[in-house]
Amino acid sequence: MRCRVEETTFIPLTRLTTPSALVRALEEEVARIPVPLGKQVRALSELFGLFTGERSGLHGSFYLDTPKLRTAYLRYHLPLNVARASWVLADVLRVYPRLSELRDVADLGAGLGSASLASLHGLPPEVERSFWLFDKSRSALKMARVLLERSAAPGSARITTKALRLPSLPLFPRPTLVWLAMVLNEIEAGARGESPSKALLDRLAERLKPGSVLLVIEPALRGPGRSLLEAHEGVLASGAWRVLAPCTHQLSCPLLRLRDRPWCHFKFRWDVPGVVREIADPLGLDPLEPGLAYLALERISPGEKLSPGEPLARVIGDPMRLERGGFGVYVCENGRRETIEARGPITRGDRVSTRGLTLPRRDDSRK
Ligand SMILES: C[S@@+](CC[C@H](N)C(=O)[O-])C[C@H]1O[C@@H](n2cnc3c(N)ncnc32)[C@H](O)[C@@H]1O
Repeated sequence: MRCRVEETTFIPLTRLTTPSALVRALEEEVARIPVPLGKQVRALSELFGLFTGERSGLHGSFYLDTPKLRTAYLRYHLPLNVARASWVLADVLRVYPRLSELRDVADLGAGLGSASLASLHGLPPEVERSFWLFDKSRSALKMARVLLERSAAPGSARITTKALRLPSLPLFPRPTLVWLAMVLNEIEAGARGESPSKALLDRLAERLKPGSVLLVIEPALRGPGRSLLEAHEGVLASGAWRVLAPCTHQLSCPLLRLRDRPWCHFKFRWDVPGVVREIADPLGLDPLEPGLAYLALERISPGEKLSPGEPLARVIGDPMRLERGGFGVYVCENGRRETIEARGPITRGDRVSTRGLTLPRRDDSRK
């Protein structure tokens, strides 16, 4: 029997491109930058230092208010994060098509508007939407507005930007699509005591109307990835949410119990636009296969019964050689990590039926 991969053809999950209207808007903005490319490259290197080095430097930092760092973000992280958010959106639309009915999009920690831009270009255009962008950086919000207005079809989107310091939250008068894209790790940086992410998710559960959807994206790194698994446990315990993705069940995460401390992350292929290549190539950056960790949640009504989930598993690893020969992959199914035989093309992130493919387990739980 071959692996049966479910529904992988609707939006090309495996190879993402950047919407041409957004590429044009970016190119226009980049053409206005009065700084030579060499300096922009150095600023990007500095920004990387901030994101990947001593992350407590992020605590209380308004790096997007610094023009050179904002420019670097615009040329590299913005389009990359649009691709990440587009991938998540496409995946969630598959499991929860009603997402496209939501008319309000709230982007918390919006930065230059990556998640809003992904929603603008990735959700069906028939519904007129209002975009609400919040960030502690006013200069970031100003640029986000420019990019959204330039790349939206005239009159297709109402855009509101507002400076706001999380964990303060706006009101959500209607069911809303809420984004926390690459933000939780930043509010966790330098924090002591109770997890700010948990507090924020609890507050969102109180504030959001049933039918709202929360999409969280985090870097594909072990630290933020494991924190997201912990947040997932809190979400389950609260009874306020249905987990839409990546889990195909409503059970505790098996990865938290495993000795090798894995974390749930995915990757996809991205056709990197020229405006990104120009600044990425001198630093040897290769964003062809971006990674991410994510969690998609639906706010449910109090007491709403949760269905046990669909009888599918999520592929959470890359194909690996098996001792007995052939290839296998890790999948997450019914709250357990299993290994299945990979008999056909299969990719991390696919949702598959495992019937007849599951291999005997080894005990790799933590003692
Ligand atoms: C890595 S950027 C992500 C921006 C955007 N969501 C994206 O995906 O590209 C993190 C953003 O969170 C914002 N941020 C961090 N802490 C915040 C807080 N406490 N309140 C509001 N915004 C915050 C930063 O200003 C920054 O714009």
